[in-house]
Amino acid sequence: MGPGDLERVLARLPEEDTPALLSSIHNGEDASVYLLGEDTAIVQTVDFFPPVVDDPYTFGQIAAANALSDIYAMNATPLTAMNIVAFPCETGTEVLEEVLLGGYDKVHEAGAVLAGGHTIEDEEPKYGLAVMGTVKLRDLTTIRGARPGDLLILTKPIGTGLMTTALKGGFVSEPDIEAVVASMCALNAKPAAVLASHQVSAMTDVTGFGLAGHLYEMMKAGGTAARIWAAEVPLFNRALEMAASGMAPRTSAEECFTQRKVEVDTGGVDQFLVTCMFDPQTSGGLLAAVKPEVAEAALAELRAGPAPDAAIIGEVLQAEVPKVTIAHERKG
Ligand code: CO
Ligand code: CO
Repeated sequence: MGPGDLERVLARLPEEDTPALLSSIHNGEDASVYLLGEDTAIVQTVDFFPPVVDDPYTFGQIAAANALSDIYAMNATPLTAMNIVAFPCETGTEVLEEVLLGGYDKVHEAGAVLAGGHTIEDEEPKYGLAVMGTVKLRDLTTIRGARPGDLLILTKPIGTGLMTTALKGGFVSEPDIEAVVASMCALNAKPAAVLASHQVSAMTDVTGFGLAGHLYEMMKAGGTAARIWAAEVPLFNRALEMAASGMAPRTSAEECFTQRKVEVDTGGVDQFLVTCMFDPQTSGGLLAAVKPEVAEAALAELRAGPAPDAAIIGEVLQAEVPKVTIAHERKG
């Protein structure tokens, strides 16, 4: 579901009137934040989806890394996770065992524990987790707070949607997506810690709405605009080629353009690069708005350590209405 459709559906739910709830279901936040006592909050999130790769253990790992990502986007520490499983009975239980083992191992790599779960029967398998973590208020990062002048850092390459679709269609082979799978399995824990140790104004993770869609959500939350320098955005090997081959899954691009949330710079941008900017990501990277004076230092630390493909991919600008402009490259 696109961001606009989701917003309209959620609009029917009244705003909660509880002072301890620091987040809102209406603000596009990555996870809920509920204050316990003076300075510690509970952070909760949930995510699940059908298999994106054939190997069940790998799928379990990816689903868990993806579910944990919203906790890291808020610079929180995950503590407990609960499995959410939909599974067809005619598929052997050893497949489900592998999925759950992949999830378990990833949850433990994150330093959290698997505390329970729920399983239902369903024709199409789905797996994911609900995750609970905690954060000190002074450490909390949110999707709100981007400021004009901030630079935008992305920690993982874009293209998981294009490449997994291409794999299913037989247009690429397993070796082509090795790096994609490794990236989807990688926790955002260390990149989040590096970013948070610099001056992060706002942070979120890139998932189903694609880079442009999630960046728009950040701009809407901050009342700002942004320019993406599309040529600076790291892409997986062959992702651009797959965009040109028509591998793009259904995206939020059309909705973003018709509602003038996103526009392409008058200078023009390769249309397939634009396609990549909307590619829905599974277990995508973190997107952070950081003060320009610390951006290079944060980037150097990411690249030398937990996020070798990290890049500065754009800038935050003043705006009368929130908007994202996709430009080809950085000017001046
Ligand atoms: Co998120
Ligand atoms: Co999420």
